[in-house]
Amino acid sequence: MKGGLRLIIVALIVTGFYAWFGNSIPQSAWEAPKKKLLTADMTPRQLSTEGKEIFRKAGCGVCHSVTGGQLRGPDLSRIGSERDAEIMAAILYSGTDVMPAANKPPANLNDAEITAVVAYMQSLGGRPKVKIGDIKVEDYDGR
Ligand code: HEC
Repeated sequence: MKGGLRLIIVALIVTGFYAWFGNSIPQSAWEAPKKKLLTADMTPRQLSTEGKEIFRKAGCGVCHSVTGGQLRGPDLSRIGSERDAEIMAAILYSGTDVMPAANKPPANLNDAEITAVVAYMQSLGGRPKVKIGDIKVEDYDGR
């Protein structure tokens, strides 16, 4: 056999093997991260734990420190003892000139997620008290 032909055959076997091997690896489909289910039976403490994560993902921490220190917005490390849930919810749903409403893009949180964030904020210098169902957009929108 000529050297050139042997090389081609070897090359075909090698590429064939890799094609077979590559296709034999199960494909793991890409999936968007699943949203945590927030349910009415969760305790305010459990909601607060989820709310902390939502607060982080929603980018609230870009403007708000929770450990003291001024960013673009006020520090929230004592917010739980300074404001009640209604005030927090009102500002989250309405936003301000300088703060985007939390239920609209970019954060785009739903009522349950906002309730969880409020529970988390209540835990900062205070104690989480709200449960799912306590806070709804109809109660606060348009103020
Ligand atoms: C672009 C910056 C920015 C982002 C992002 C932002 N905020 Fe704010 N936030 C502010 C500013 C500034 C204020 C002060 C109110 C004002 O000046 O209009 C404020 C006020 C607040 C207040 C009232 C504080 C008080 O002492 O009464 C709360 C509560 C709050 N933000 C929570 C949040 C949460 C929760 C998120 C995430 C969903 C968030 N903010 C995202 C800038 C921001």
